[in-house]
Amino acid sequence: MIRGMNETGNEPSVDLLMRPRIVLAAAETAETRRIARVFEGLGAEVLVANDNEVAINLLEQMEVEVLIAETRSPRVDGIRLLAAGRRLSPDLCAIFIAEPGEIDLATRAVQDGAYDYQTRPLNLDKMLAVIRRAHADRELKARLNDLQRRLDRKYGVHNILGNSAAISEVMAKVLQIAPTSASVLITGETGTGKELIATALHQNSARRNAALVKLHCGDLAAGLVESELFGHERGAFTGATSARKGRFEAADGGTLFLDAVGELPLETQAKLLRVLGSGEYQPLGSETTSRADVRIIAATSVPLPEAVTAGRFREDLYYRLAVVQIEIPALRHRRQDIPLLIAHFLREASTGAGKSVPSIAPRAMGRLLRYAWPGNVRELKNVVSGMTLAADDGRMLDVVDLPPAIQELPEEGQGIMIPIGTSLEEAEERLVEATLRSVAGDKQAASRILGVSVRTLFRHAARHREG
Ligand SMILES: Nc1ncnc2c1ncn2[C@@H]1O[C@H](COP(=O)(O)OP(=O)(O)O)[C@@H](O)[C@H]1O
Ligand SMILES: [Mg+2]
Repeated sequence: MIRGMNETGNEPSVDLLMRPRIVLAAAETAETRRIARVFEGLGAEVLVANDNEVAINLLEQMEVEVLIAETRSPRVDGIRLLAAGRRLSPDLCAIFIAEPGEIDLATRAVQDGAYDYQTRPLNLDKMLAVIRRAHADRELKARLNDLQRRLDRKYGVHNILGNSAAISEVMAKVLQIAPTSASVLITGETGTGKELIATALHQNSARRNAALVKLHCGDLAAGLVESELFGHERGAFTGATSARKGRFEAADGGTLFLDAVGELPLETQAKLLRVLGSGEYQPLGSETTSRADVRIIAATSVPLPEAVTAGRFREDLYYRLAVVQIEIPALRHRRQDIPLLIAHFLREASTGAGKSVPSIAPRAMGRLLRYAWPGNVRELKNVVSGMTLAADDGRMLDVVDLPPAIQELPEEGQGIMIPIGTSLEEAEERLVEATLRSVAGDKQAASRILGVSVRTLFRHAARHREG
């Protein structure tokens, strides 16, 4: 008994209650006063509302953890009070007091999310236990939410698959610089995941709730790029029949991803540089200056320093964009990632097609691992999903299912012995011969494997015949 606790002089633990705010919706009676006194003695703040309408008012005005109410009340009954309370505070711990004839109603309240009901005589110890349980529930929920948030943050990076040291480094860098507003330049061949990284940077930043706006800089003529970036007024140029908002404005508070930034026309580069310096820009045909708070992430598959040397890219803009650089290595330089990516794309493609996930014969897998992947992860994804879609459900994928360029890669372990002492010229000759043999004399295939043109290969063959 609570009173018993007080009588024996035990200090009630206020910490366990976390000083909750309790709304007690009941008429002023000796019983109500006793409940209020006991819970106040335990450190709670108790507000007495003489009817349920007043209780709803209180719930609207402040954060309330506990509601103790009569099941039936003259104007607003307990069910409606509960609905209002839970709408205002979803974790509300509602406890109803029911007359013997109101058990059905009280049971319904519990089904609707009330924590408990009691009939008289009231058991305040039990009430206290229910309040503690509700508090523990709320804490657990908060912890789960926090965990979920952390998972979300992690997931933003874990979209990026790979277990090579190279990709781990990229991921670590993403997590490290995402929260900053620094401009980032992402470099890498086509299909290496530049856009994916840009998305991860945005998702892991405080800007994640604002827009991530993307613009491919190579798709449009100079004038159009500018109107895309900064927007335009009606009549700013022929065809501008209405005003249009630019990407800068759309990305305000968020992130602007400039893909293929190396293809940005020089005159647009100058304008972009000015915006990056001041955050201010002028829509085409407009007299007024606009401001936008935008983080820039740019991507390029051509090395910008070379474009700078060639006079095609402004050096000052390059430095401005490349405050932080993330270089994504080509897939052939991190082959360790290939099996994981294949497994992922197999699962994705077969689930999408409603098929069972196929396995891959080791001979086919060997070739997929050795192929050069000039189109990187994008090419791998296309190849794997193409194979999955074309194959009969349940069949293991084998060499015949591979695209020709991968099929013709020679069997692993097939090789030639070149003893030390062999001249470079002879070694080359032997390699060409062996490669030609492995593809049954197909010069196209051999030239692809050796990474030379068919003409070069012909020259080799000719020299060999002459020699
Ligand atoms: N590490 C990775 N893990 C999972 N998917 C990837 C990875 N890298 C690239 N992809 C996928 O490959 C495709 C090409 O990536 P993308 O970001 O468009 O490349 P880029 O912009 O460099 O051309 C996309 O479908 C992307 O989701
Ligand atoms: Mg891309």
